[in-house]
Amino acid sequence: DAVERGEYRHYMQKEIFEQPRAVADTLEARLGPHGVLPNIFGIESDELLRRTRGVHIIACGTSYHAGLVAKYWIEEFAHLPVSVEVASEYRYRDAVVPPDTLLVAISQSGETADTLAALRESTRRGYLGTLVICNVPESSLVREADLKLMTRAGPEIGVASTKAFTTQLAALALFALELAQRNGMDPARHAQLCTELQHLPRAIEDALKLEPAIVELAAEFIHRQHALFLGRGAHYPVALEGSLKLKEISYIHAEAYPAGELKHGPLALVDEKMPVVAVAPNGPLLDKLKSNLQEVRARGGRLIVFADGAAGMDDMTENGATLRVASGGSFIAPIVFTVPLQLLAYHVAVLRGTDVDQPRNLAKSVTVE
Ligand code: G6P
Repeated sequence: DAVERGEYRHYMQKEIFEQPRAVADTLEARLGPHGVLPNIFGIESDELLRRTRGVHIIACGTSYHAGLVAKYWIEEFAHLPVSVEVASEYRYRDAVVPPDTLLVAISQSGETADTLAALRESTRRGYLGTLVICNVPESSLVREADLKLMTRAGPEIGVASTKAFTTQLAALALFALELAQRNGMDPARHAQLCTELQHLPRAIEDALKLEPAIVELAAEFIHRQHALFLGRGAHYPVALEGSLKLKEISYIHAEAYPAGELKHGPLALVDEKMPVVAVAPNGPLLDKLKSNLQEVRARGGRLIVFADGAAGMDDMTENGATLRVASGGSFIAPIVFTVPLQLLAYHVAVLRGTDVDQPRNLAKSVTVE
């Protein structure tokens, strides 16, 4: 066991540090300088993807958060409508399926009971076809789907998912680029996004260098009972994933909100005992996020801001901290900003002395309903 963990104290830490490699493997031989290479989703994919006019995504847990990020990408780049739903709800709902809709299931294990049942249920609902994004080639989901794209994260042992999530996002980024290419995206813009995605392993490596600074930040959370995570746009699902990581392994109650919803409830909880973590890379919504954060500051909330050096973010945190993360560009930023949040959850859990790799009451794969 100690040998497999090598220099790392826990599998989770090892898996966080394996992400540059895992993501590079997932992109390898799938992405060229001018686009996604042919047939990476399987040989029948050409016909199905050509006909796709909309996408429904189903998943559970962390995989669901990957789906939420993909919605922003596919809608922005390919202008196709996307809905994302947790599989346990989807399977019992009368989902209305417009013509030529593709069902996408996302799962690390390929054995999650609700996701598998939702995929099976979908065959009665008139989809164009099904695509599975999964980490285990011999799993039930992979066997039952029409199209598949394997993440190449390697075995993930820590119950809290890390490298499976970022490789799912890399796979979904390929899917979004493929749909964009087929739906008239400007070739120059497309090439620029491909270059950005090629750079992802390096950008994650840079983010991992923040670990010492994050260890310091983590100390502030030891005696906290609650934490609030905020983001906007594609960074709202990143905030959701950051809060899920913290709650899973440190047992601190954490919630994530799209920052624009702050005034509709969570602001009532903010006082000097409430750390507020903001995922705040530069982008069209940054000014709006800043004014949301002013509201937190005015109520004495302690702000912990992950930013990429955009002007005005440092003075946000005289009562708190700003950490600089080099995003590598706005397309891959949600993947890159996930990494410091994983490290934060990990180090808070270590300081609190929890069983990081086997958190109480949770299982790696939920194979019963
Ligand atoms: C469990 C795991 C999570 C995972 C979720 C979905 O809750 O603890 O880490 O995200 O199941 O699993 P899947 O294998 O379908 O991605």
